[in-house]
Amino acid sequence: MKKVRIGIIGLGFMGTTHWGVYKGLKNAQIVALADVDAKKRRGDVSAVVGNIGGGDNSKPLDLTGVTVYENGFALISNADVDVVDICVPTPDHADLVCAALAAGKHVFCEKPLCRDAAQMKKIVAAAKKAKGFFNVGLCVRAWPEYRHACEYYRSGKAGKMRSATFKRISPSVDGNAWQNWFMDGARSGGALLDLHVHDADQVNCFFGMPKSVTAAGARGIVSKGGVDHVVATYDYGNGTLVMAEGGWAAAKGTPFEMSFTIVCEKATLKLDASGYHIYPVKGKPISPKVDAKAGPTGWHQELAYFVSCVAKGVKPDRYQTVDSVADTMRLIFAEERSVKTGKAVRL
Ligand SMILES: NC(=O)c1ccc[n+]([C@@H]2O[C@H](COP(=O)([O-])OP(=O)(O)OC[C@H]3O[C@@H](n4cnc5c(N)ncnc54)[C@H](O)[C@@H]3O)[C@@H](O)[C@H]2O)c1
Repeated sequence: MKKVRIGIIGLGFMGTTHWGVYKGLKNAQIVALADVDAKKRRGDVSAVVGNIGGGDNSKPLDLTGVTVYENGFALISNADVDVVDICVPTPDHADLVCAALAAGKHVFCEKPLCRDAAQMKKIVAAAKKAKGFFNVGLCVRAWPEYRHACEYYRSGKAGKMRSATFKRISPSVDGNAWQNWFMDGARSGGALLDLHVHDADQVNCFFGMPKSVTAAGARGIVSKGGVDHVVATYDYGNGTLVMAEGGWAAAKGTPFEMSFTIVCEKATLKLDASGYHIYPVKGKPISPKVDAKAGPTGWHQELAYFVSCVAKGVKPDRYQTVDSVADTMRLIFAEERSVKTGKAVRL
């Protein structure tokens, strides 16, 4: 079998997570790596820490057969790389994505797609012209329980939505990242952009784009200038209440929480620490068997799917289109404006 040849740019929390997933895929081979940090270029990932999941980083990675670069653009010009996987801090995504797409590569880029609307425009234009495939690591779209719930809701089985709450609360990520870049609001966008984007994205995936969004946030709890905790309500103009809350200011050691409660006419869909269940208005609770063949997390699912699409030459369409990712980014940038002004922002 001809393997899909992967080049990873950025070997931090997400780069090492992707590394572990690719190593478990029979149809993928990591052939190149780029990182500005000399320790990472030697495979030393002992300083890498994450807030959820992640592998054992105590042992150095085996870089046999991997061409190592300091500069991501040099990796992009390597003709042996089929897929460029971008796992660097968010402000650097746009230039690397555009260069890799222009070079004809298939591109997988971590979320959030970019830091601002101007970068988003450039990426969307580049993706629309590109020959290569393009997916963004909005991994919650591929997370087995979320995917099942979204498909169940969209099938109409639960009836009309009445209210929905999505929540994502992380222990503080202060000190976790390279140069502690998460704690610089100008670079990371705070928890609002970096963490809560997943739930804004779920709102978009389940219900489509709202008419407007109103958000309130707490700044400067752990980061410099970033919104560290946010609550947003999404107005669909139909009497429903859709809300999402996200924060990364909980004390270190607090368990990571991701949850939803979606109350519909015929059933309530719920994910929390006790698991994923559907509670029909009539009948017994259901504990659905979710599709976790490619692995238990959205990272396993999304990368296995993207690699299989590249291997078969079939354009990926399961988890996302560039337009739906751009909509989510418009939504999250609207939330940023709403937090600043205290007013609803129309979409
Ligand atoms: N999908 C998810 O669940 C999830 C989780 C965490 C982070 N992320 C996203 O992944 C991206 C990376 O975050 P992280 O947590 O891995 O950060 P990190 O700080 O742990 O890792 C970043 C890595 O990139 C390297 N780097 C920095 N600038 C570079 C450049 N210009 N060229 C090459 N290497 C460079 C650093 O040395 C470091 O190894 C961010 O966009 C973040 O929002 C996604």
